[in-house]
Amino acid sequence: MICDNLSINEKGHLVFAGRDTVDLAQKYGTPLYVMDENKIREHMREYKAAFEKYFPEGSCPEYASKAFSCKQIYRIAAEEKMNIDVVSCGEIYTAMSTGYPMENCFFHGNNKTDEDIEFAMEAKVGCIVADSEEELFAINQIAKQKGITQKILLRVTPGIDTHTHQKISTGNVDSKFGIAIDTNQAKETVGKILKLQNIDFAGFHCHIGSQIFESGPFDLASELMFRFIKDIKDTYGYTPRVLNLGGGFGVRYIDSDPKISFAEKIAEIAKILEKQSKAFGIEIPKIAMEPGRSIVADAGLTLYSVGSVKEITGYKNYVSIDGGMTDNPRYTLYESPYTVILATRANDEKDFCATIAGRCCEEGDVIQENVMLPKPKRNEILAVLTTGAYNYSMASNYNRVPRPPVIMLNDKDEYIAVKRETLEDICALDI
Ligand code: LLP
Repeated sequence: MICDNLSINEKGHLVFAGRDTVDLAQKYGTPLYVMDENKIREHMREYKAAFEKYFPEGSCPEYASKAFSCKQIYRIAAEEKMNIDVVSCGEIYTAMSTGYPMENCFFHGNNKTDEDIEFAMEAKVGCIVADSEEELFAINQIAKQKGITQKILLRVTPGIDTHTHQKISTGNVDSKFGIAIDTNQAKETVGKILKLQNIDFAGFHCHIGSQIFESGPFDLASELMFRFIKDIKDTYGYTPRVLNLGGGFGVRYIDSDPKISFAEKIAEIAKILEKQSKAFGIEIPKIAMEPGRSIVADAGLTLYSVGSVKEITGYKNYVSIDGGMTDNPRYTLYESPYTVILATRANDEKDFCATIAGRCCEEGDVIQENVMLPKPKRNEILAVLTTGAYNYSMASNYNRVPRPPVIMLNDKDEYIAVKRETLEDICALDI
């Protein structure tokens, strides 16, 4: 199995976080997002421990909550003393409404409006990651009106082409995010920041992409960031207190994806930083990173009921499920691979090849193609694994399909973290 929270029981049912998934589907209905709270906490702890062990004092990971955002995840983060990364007023509001300590919150995004900035300051978010000069000036202006000094990081693009899908690779020079180092614009911006009165300029941020397994891109990013920091120090005499290297560690969606240890990766990054620190004669700042996917992805799976099984003679087979691109748009968007298991007969021979299709009125509404399964029957339960990241958070109401609930499981308890949307909810805002 691709993760240690999965197994198969004596009935041949798929077991997740110690629970029979077929029982869960019966109890809560389908489609159903199921999350393993222990796994989320385990990952948060692994990151925190590795940061303490390998990075300078005061270094902290942040959970990138765009991967999975609801009140309960912020409660878990608060209990685990995990900083958070938010990208919208919606995420700020959700975190704040749980009593999350907002000084541990970092506000990202490539185009924050004045209202967003004002909202973030009212919420007392600890740090705003500024993405453009317009934003910096707006932050300074709004902070001045409020009589405060706002801590910021400047997001720069180191100019790295990672091998992940183009739409989730963001460290390139040609990116809507951050200010480019290559073109000298980032350096010019630093000169301007240093003149701003209501800004506490804590350091730099970069993010090179997502679903990255190798250390190479981080090595390159660190080298470019240290080179940049040295240049900034020589030019302006400014040295950053914080260097945020973004998120991006990969997770196992399918067997052929490597299994990586975050602690080992962090140890490797720490070595890389030491090497660059020596090479450029710059002390290593406090390090931050923002893992999202690698904290929640394998802590989640989605359960569906099988509807029709259509065999098109001479072509291919379609297994239609009661969800689809509305609860998991990732195949439609990125052709992301997933492991699919027939949860009701997980041990049976997988001799039927099928495309798993959703029920939206759209040919591209597909969860996965060429999946090998025992030939399913109507009302059997199908599990799509590793859906804890960027599934619930990217779900939509296309075709006015209500979004599934999120059930959380831990050692002692199982509970609803997010309720199933109802048809009334669907019409709630309609006049
Ligand atoms: N920090 C920044 C600035 C980011 O832009 C992202 C992801 C992260 C951290 C977290 O990266 P992670 O550790 O989760 O890879 N919807 C896409 C992923 C978009 C990622 C956007 N930024 C997907 O479903 O694959």
